[in-house]
Amino acid sequence: MSISVVILAAGQGTRMKSSTPKVLHEISGKSMLFHTIDAAKNVSDDITVVLYHQAERIQKEIEESYEGIHFHMQDAQQFPGTGGAMKGVKVNHSKVLILNGDMPLITTGSLHALMEGDADINMSVIQLDNPNGYGRVVILDGNVHEIIEEKDCIPAQREIQTVNAGVYCVRKELLDRYIPALSNENAQAEYYLTDIIKMAVDGNKTVHPVMVQEEEFKGVNSKLDLAHAEEIMQERIRAEWMKAGVTMHLPQTIYIDSRATFEGECILESGVSIQGKSKIIDSHIKANSVIEDSLIENSDVGPMGRVRPGSTLIDTHIGNFVEVKKSILTGVKAGHLAYIGDASIDKGSNIGAGVITCNYDGKNKYKTTIGKNVFIGSDTQLVAPIIIEDDVIIAAGTTVNKNIAKGELAISRAPMKTIKNFFYKFFLTESDKHKGDK
Ligand code: UD1
Ligand code: CA
Repeated sequence: MSISVVILAAGQGTRMKSSTPKVLHEISGKSMLFHTIDAAKNVSDDITVVLYHQAERIQKEIEESYEGIHFHMQDAQQFPGTGGAMKGVKVNHSKVLILNGDMPLITTGSLHALMEGDADINMSVIQLDNPNGYGRVVILDGNVHEIIEEKDCIPAQREIQTVNAGVYCVRKELLDRYIPALSNENAQAEYYLTDIIKMAVDGNKTVHPVMVQEEEFKGVNSKLDLAHAEEIMQERIRAEWMKAGVTMHLPQTIYIDSRATFEGECILESGVSIQGKSKIIDSHIKANSVIEDSLIENSDVGPMGRVRPGSTLIDTHIGNFVEVKKSILTGVKAGHLAYIGDASIDKGSNIGAGVITCNYDGKNKYKTTIGKNVFIGSDTQLVAPIIIEDDVIIAAGTTVNKNIAKGELAISRAPMKTIKNFFYKFFLTESDKHKGDK
């Protein structure tokens, strides 16, 4: 791959109204910047991210997830603007693709389109009914002649509907020549990257406009933009998995994290949320269930089941209002209203309604281990740490606070008693008493 990628991500993003840097806002479980980096990795082995605002935090997050990404600190005090961002950036290859960190919907296909041909510069352009906020592009004889930033436009130029989408593929030698020559004599007193276009045109270089889709190149600047981008991302993710064979009922109501995966025949009912790096294999997730960072194989969950991070369900049935957390269940049935946390439960075991693993004593978490063919009656509390061996029966309502050996019955129950006619004595009213007086 003989192209370098530079991702501009130094801007502050004030319109997000957040203490989190703009490019770290997530879309479908992954930050905008990571979506961009992932697309860039498909076309390049030399990626540089330009940072300034909250640079340390962003660099740290990138380094935790990626190897070999380069960083460049913009001197934004002295050289503000997109051109200032490119000042001093070092790249390895002879062509440079310049991307923005707030364009999470950009696809590898579009990046390829921008890399094609032998023009000196390829520049992304969009045709818009409402060009507000964008630099206007003048095209003459099929080549880009000029870009005028909105704040520098005269009224006639504002009418231009061909705009700069902000992504470019430029020969490195041109960047080396033009970036140091940029000036900030414009309405915003910033160093505009777009001025290299004028320099190229003046130097008889070819600047080729590449028509791109607005949807992919729209920058995310506000929480509203973020929500719109996520809708589009969700449509793409769902379409991709349906193509791969996942059945979805009312797909518009289903949320799937961009890191989640499916194998075999899976069914997702309406309102299901698959979060984190979940992996679902040959399973049926029923209406309004939430799965987070878990592996689910040959199992069914819900309706209204919740599987929290770190769980593995194999050959298992989880019914309504059952919460499972950081537990391994193999061949288990838990049909109704239970909390299973920090547990491992083996084949053929049945968890009754209202069963709770008491896994937390206010300071620490403890494990519950349940063997094969264990029948746990309704409303049982399992006070962890606890080990229940194979072939055990636990009577309904038992508080289990000792390990139970293979084959045993466990029962803890205060003896029940009855009091005759208590109801009538308790509810007898004054008038009932007077009736009795007659
Ligand atoms: C830029 C283009 C404009 C185009 C628009 C498309 C310039 C001068 N103008 O405008 O023609 O229509 O994008 O969205 O380039 N950034 C830095 N350092 C900075 C300033 C910005 O790294 O000092 C980064 C931002 O984080 C962002 C990208 O550059 O990722 C674009 O910056 P933005 O402020 O959105 O550019 P616009 O003024 O909208
Ligand atoms: Ca912008």
